Amino acid sequence: MLSGVSAIVTARLGCITTASLVSLLCVTKVQVAASATPTCQRPRLTEVIQRGLTTQATDTSNTMIFTSPMDKLSEAKQASLWGLLIGDALSMPVHWYYDADDIKRDYGKWLTGYVAPRKQHPSSIMSLSATGGSGRSGFSTRREEPLIGNVILHDKLQYWTNRGGSVHYHQGMSAGDSTLNALCALKVCQTMTRVDPDNDLSPRDLRSAVLADYVQFLTTPGTHNDTYAESFHRAFFRDWIQAGKPVTKDGLIDFAEKRHEEQSAGSADSQLAVIGAFVMAVPFVLHAAHLSEAEAVRNTVDFVRLTHPLPPHHLEPFLELYVKVLHAVLNGASLQEKAAEALQSPVLGGSGTWKRVQTFSSEAAGYAKGSDSRLSVYQEAVGRFGLACYIKGSLTSLFFLAHEFHDDMEGGVLTNTNVGGENCHRGAALGALLAAAAGSTGKPLPQGLKDGLGSARTDLMALLANSKL
Ligand SMILES: *[C@@H]1O[C@H](CO)[C@@H](O)[C@H](O)[C@H]1NC(C)=O
Repeated sequence: MLSGVSAIVTARLGCITTASLVSLLCVTKVQVAASATPTCQRPRLTEVIQRGLTTQATDTSNTMIFTSPMDKLSEAKQASLWGLLIGDALSMPVHWYYDADDIKRDYGKWLTGYVAPRKQHPSSIMSLSATGGSGRSGFSTRREEPLIGNVILHDKLQYWTNRGGSVHYHQGMSAGDSTLNALCALKVCQTMTRVDPDNDLSPRDLRSAVLADYVQFLTTPGTHNDTYAESFHRAFFRDWIQAGKPVTKDGLIDFAEKRHEEQSAGSADSQLAVIGAFVMAVPFVLHAAHLSEAEAVRNTVDFVRLTHPLPPHHLEPFLELYVKVLHAVLNGASLQEKAAEALQSPVLGGSGTWKRVQTFSSEAAGYAKGSDSRLSVYQEAVGRFGLACYIKGSLTSLFFLAHEFHDDMEGGVLTNTNVGGENCHRGAALGALLAAAAGSTGKPLPQGLKDGLGSARTDLMALLANSKL
């Protein structure tokens, strides 16, 4: 079913290791993170009233009455955030399962809803740290300081150093729980509604506030339960330590802009040109959804540069493609059409890619919806386009699934889960897109998927009840 096994294995190792994990793991001193849980400002009364009306009109009835275009956009934005969290949480128990058959072996069947992860993972390399490949040039020449278990992932060091077995990247989480990047995305939305409720803050001030909360979130013990943090977080905090651990908004944005300027001119860290970059980017598209497409692209790219300092062509053309599609769909465009356009874009390989998409698509159509045979076509297709984190393959797979499931959010996110690979972050970005399409056409998301969401649900409900996103 999956061809090119060795290529897939290499890709897997690449995605989830970085340079010199050993040095990341060494703990020499305890650093106490300055922290206070951020508190949300109360919305103003008029906003509460407006929101109450909007919420009532959409929540209590299946018939959409009095729905103005603005209501539709709000609906689509809220759905999109739900979709991001749902797409991630469904895949969490089988994140980085590169052999899809392991999903059935470990969980007894293809997943049809939320389940808790097992303790062990069929192919995790988290505990094989020392021999991990190089993810980023230049690391070994720097003086390393402790990171994992010390600055971030405070109580999780044991799982990175455990040599006894193949520890699951999300061990200990419950069914429906969100992985770190999805939680970061939710945090970004919380920051945005706190500091920019009227959507009039300068984009740079917004970015700096988001960064400050991001740093506080990751460096404060107990804020999340995930065991794994992908390369970009580790690279960010490694450089942050070197820069003297700035915590103020101004200090942080200066640090991150300078870091982007320096590193985007150097050799690329291939571990950063990955789909995981899109998860925290989604809130920036939602926040700019009422602005022009160009502004949505600009604001989103400008933020992602701060966490993913890469030469522009490594990630930005892909991000731009995704932002444009999400922006259009939020505003009512057809996801089927937009995904088809994206799949024909030169960025993803042009007509050759589109031809392969059509071949897989008609093969899938030969089997009943929801059948194992149809799933196996999708598994083969995603295996062919890209199962791993690397952006071109991953985004092609994402748009392929978006095209196939443009009007079936649940089918799309579950298929994304059951094809395996880097399904959490692909699932978050795909879920945001599929749910935006559902929201903008007034189609409610499956209630079971909303109700079953775990750790993020309470915060999400509070956010949506009190803000316009
Ligand atoms: C972490 O997990 C524990 C145990 O399930 C739970 O009580 C706690 O609320 C979780 N913390 C977060 C931040 O989700």
